[in-house]
Formats: sequence, C-alpha cells, structure tokens
Amino acid sequence: MTKIFTNDISFHEQWFLQYAARECAKEQEDPAPLDLKIRHTQTVFAIARRIAASVSFTPDQTRACLLAALYHDMARFEQYLQYRTFKDKESCNHGLLGVKILKREARLAEEGAVVQRMVLAAVGLHNRFALPAGLPDKICRVAHVVRDADKLDILRIMAEHLSGQAPYKPTVVLNLPDEPALCGAAVLKAAVEGRVAAYCELRSVNDFRVLLGTWFFDLHFQSSRRQFIEDGHAARILTALPDAPPYGTARKLLLKRLGAK
Ligand SMILES: [Fe+2]
Repeated sequence: MTKIFTNDISFHEQWFLQYAARECAKEQEDPAPLDLKIRHTQTVFAIARRIAASVSFTPDQTRACLLAALYHDMARFEQYLQYRTFKDKESCNHGLLGVKILKREARLAEEGAVVQRMVLAAVGLHNRFALPAGLPDKICRVAHVVRDADKLDILRIMAEHLSGQAPYKPTVVLNLPDEPALCGAAVLKAAVEGRVAAYCELRSVNDFRVLLGTWFFDLHFQSSRRQFIEDGHAARILTALPDAPPYGTARKLLLKRLGAK
C-alpha cells in the first residue's frame, strides 16, 4: 500500500459529491434538507482545513482531519432517507452509521492504518456530548478539529434560523417551545460557570440560545475561538435573549466573554 502524505484529498471530495448527488436523487419530496448537508459538509471541511493549518500536526493528523471533516456527516443522507429526520434519538446514531458507510464503501482502503484509525474515531465520535476518557491524544486532537469545525458551522445555520433569515422550522430548534417563561436552570448555571450546557437540560428556545453561546467553552483551538467571536453568530443569537432575569446574567456574561456588549 502506498502511504499518502499530501493534503490533497480532491479524489475524496469528488467521490463525496457524487455520493451525495446519488443520495439526493433518491429523495422524492424535498431535497432541500439534504442539499443543506452538502453545504454544511463543505463549510466544515474548509474550517477544519484552516484549524489544522493553524497547529502543528503530523502529516497523518492533517490528512485525517480533512478526511474526517469531509466524511463526518456522510450518514445524514441515508439517515434522512430512511427515517425522515436528522434526530439521532428518533432514528440512529449518525456518527456510528457514518463509520459503517465508510467501511462499506471502502473509502479509506488506500489510507495508512494510522490515518484510518483517526478518521474512523473522529467520524464516530463527532456527535458525542464529550469524547470518551482515555482516547489517545493524537486521535483526540483530530476529533476536536472536526467537532470545533462542526460547531462553528452549526452556529451559522442557527443564527440564520433564529434571526428570521431562514424559514422558521420548529425541528431546527428541536421543537422546543418559544416560551420566555420556560427556563432551564441547569443551562443558565452552566453558562455562568463557563461550562458547555447539555441538550437534555433545554426547556425553551431561549435556553437553546444560551446553549449555543456556551459552545465557546468547548472549543479546543485558538483559531476556533477566534472564528467563533469574529463570525459574530453567537453574539447575534445571544443579543436576542431578554436582558432581564432569568436570562440577563447569562446573557451579559456570555456576551462579555465574546467581546460584545
Ligand atoms: Fe453530524
């Protein structure tokens, strides 16, 4: 087997686009949700490339970052076609399904064993709340690149949605009620303590806004944190929170952390 050290994965990019087009063509009703996943993948890929270039990675790690970013959501197509939802809880774990598809399609057959291991781990773990303890540092770093890049682009999608730029779809905000009186105390506590909040603690759309702001505390690279602030998506999402209790304190602290008012 030839060991490939270059950062050129254009062959994989072409394959992914063909695969995505083939899967999209199977959608009889509305291909828009799947089209969005193609754009999401391309953006995550570009962000991951930037992050990987900003740190000192081995060639294997850099290549694994690019491949894992490109393939991280490849299961979204089959998931949606089979279950009509992107919610893992109501369908399947799309990270693990992605690993299965990568193996089934022999996408990593030409890669070295180290790259294969890193890519499969990063794809399989990209959608977990946290990485498992004991994961080797080299793999952790690759997984963190994909997870950071994923968060940065989800934030863009959420900002478009929550600011009314995109047609409002309750499913995008996990069908949470847009009810100012409903507030998840644990979400606010996490924000005030500088921790990432958990999905299971959400009670309303405003909680979701806070949760997205707390993602700042779960970024692992300087360039990710810089982009999180510079993009301005989080600040826009947080500014729409009520200034008064119970959200006022979390709103103020998070915006201050992001350098916004
Ligand atoms: Fe994903």
